[in-house]
Amino acid sequence: MQNERREQAQRTVLIHCPEKISENKFLKYLSQHGPINNHFFYESFGLYAVVEFCRKESVGSLQNGTQTPNMAMETAIPFRSRFLSLKLKNQTSKQSCIQSSNQLPPSNRKLFELLCYAESIDDQLNTLLKEFQLTEENTKLRYLTCSLIEDIAAAYFPDCVVRPFGSSVNTFGKLGCDLDMFLDLDETRNLSTHKTSGNFLMEFQVKNVPSERIATQKILSVIGECLDHFGPGCVGVQKILNARCPLVRFSHQASGFQCDLTTNNKIALTSSELLYIYGTLDSRVRALVFGIRCWARAHSLTSSIPGAWITNFSLTMMVIFFLQRRSPPILPTLDSLKTLADAEDKCIIEGNNCTFVHDLNRIKPSGNTETLELLLKEFFEYFGNFAFNKNSINIRQGREQNKPDSSPLYIQNPFETSLNISKNVSQSQLQKFVDLAQESAWILQQEDTHRPSVSSNQPWGLAAVLLPSVPNRGSLTKKKRKRSANERVKNLLESLKSNRTANFTETNEK
Ligand code: CTP
Ligand code: MG
Repeated sequence: MQNERREQAQRTVLIHCPEKISENKFLKYLSQHGPINNHFFYESFGLYAVVEFCRKESVGSLQNGTQTPNMAMETAIPFRSRFLSLKLKNQTSKQSCIQSSNQLPPSNRKLFELLCYAESIDDQLNTLLKEFQLTEENTKLRYLTCSLIEDIAAAYFPDCVVRPFGSSVNTFGKLGCDLDMFLDLDETRNLSTHKTSGNFLMEFQVKNVPSERIATQKILSVIGECLDHFGPGCVGVQKILNARCPLVRFSHQASGFQCDLTTNNKIALTSSELLYIYGTLDSRVRALVFGIRCWARAHSLTSSIPGAWITNFSLTMMVIFFLQRRSPPILPTLDSLKTLADAEDKCIIEGNNCTFVHDLNRIKPSGNTETLELLLKEFFEYFGNFAFNKNSINIRQGREQNKPDSSPLYIQNPFETSLNISKNVSQSQLQKFVDLAQESAWILQQEDTHRPSVSSNQPWGLAAVLLPSVPNRGSLTKKKRKRSANERVKNLLESLKSNRTANFTETNEK
């Protein structure tokens, strides 16, 4: 699927369009270069079109008829890419109504309306999933953005591949989530290994550095410079090279994606694949993960700023672990997925065994028939009472184990088993998670007896636990609200401090 999407993206261009444009004329103009397979428009500080040609040659033909702009006050760096700008020669073009595809999550207001009119908590969770999941167009835009970045990196490494990973591809992505990219240089490294014959072996003359890490830092440093100086629409480029997993962070303005580019990070690709399998195995998994992710965001348990907060990745692991603990289990353990693997699935990365079955048909469906409503309640109940002080979470074995160190929250990395994916989480953030889980469990229990009539638009069920502060909860509410405001300030300070010293705690952990 990834190869197919990548190939589609290579035949695609991104065009900044004037607001007043006739769709038909636009398509006719572009068709001079060859037939168009697919196109859509979207708005993000202006109108943009994503146009996929049927043939790759069409892109070259379009580029050949494209000019570098002449600036009056500034000088353009003549960099040719597939990100173009369409200008109207004749300003009198008639305005037409262009249908633009939405790339943003629903507003809180719309979400609450939808949730209030849903028929059950199961219905609410499925509605939330439908509203937040990545659309076909958004996925196309993600692959296109990777492909545009690949063109820039290819100036140095012609056979490189830039692959999306993380929530853009693991089935747990919400509209608006960041775009994690992996610069894969393996093709460059391995390309000619099979082409030798006879007594001779030819090698490239190369520069050597003392370690893989230094090589990664050097490569990312240069690509980061290149994005900063030549990358159309790439702004706010930050090189975070001292993190555990070095990365270049930037905004791709036209697509609106916050991008994290890494290399030498193969395990993260494998863990994205594993999450994809978990997300596809049972339809309840994604609905519950989206519900919990939205719940955590609504209560500021997660944040887009790196810091001592729980991450979405950790929350997903907690949901998977919880679903492995049901009776009968809804999800298999990673160890049992390893047992089902065959020779083709075998995968060792940097000495870590990353083997698991890839053929979904070989995994027996779960016999568990619990409703999403029950699972949501039980999730809050389970983690509201979890012995975080002594136990760790581990999806490999699917059972609690003693914590190997004193980190407040310990979630074992499934493949690099000596690492804790939530090492950044502070005791106060964990406590906030536990308090909110208990409170949400309590609200959902009350609801059994106090569900409002269907016609009322009172928040109930999922909508009630998503509210940042729920009214009518007696004298506690005011005190709690004050405490949580104080906590937020404290946590922000904590995270600013740790950012300055540790250079992005969260990204250190990637
Ligand atoms: N990752 C990891 N260990 C961590 C953090 C991240 O292995 N401590 C890997 C995971 O495969 C994760 C990917 O890097 O999916 C991207 O990380 P991140 O962007 O933080 O998480 P996402 O799953 O993409 O979720 P979000 O929607 O919040 O971006
Ligand atoms: Mg991500």
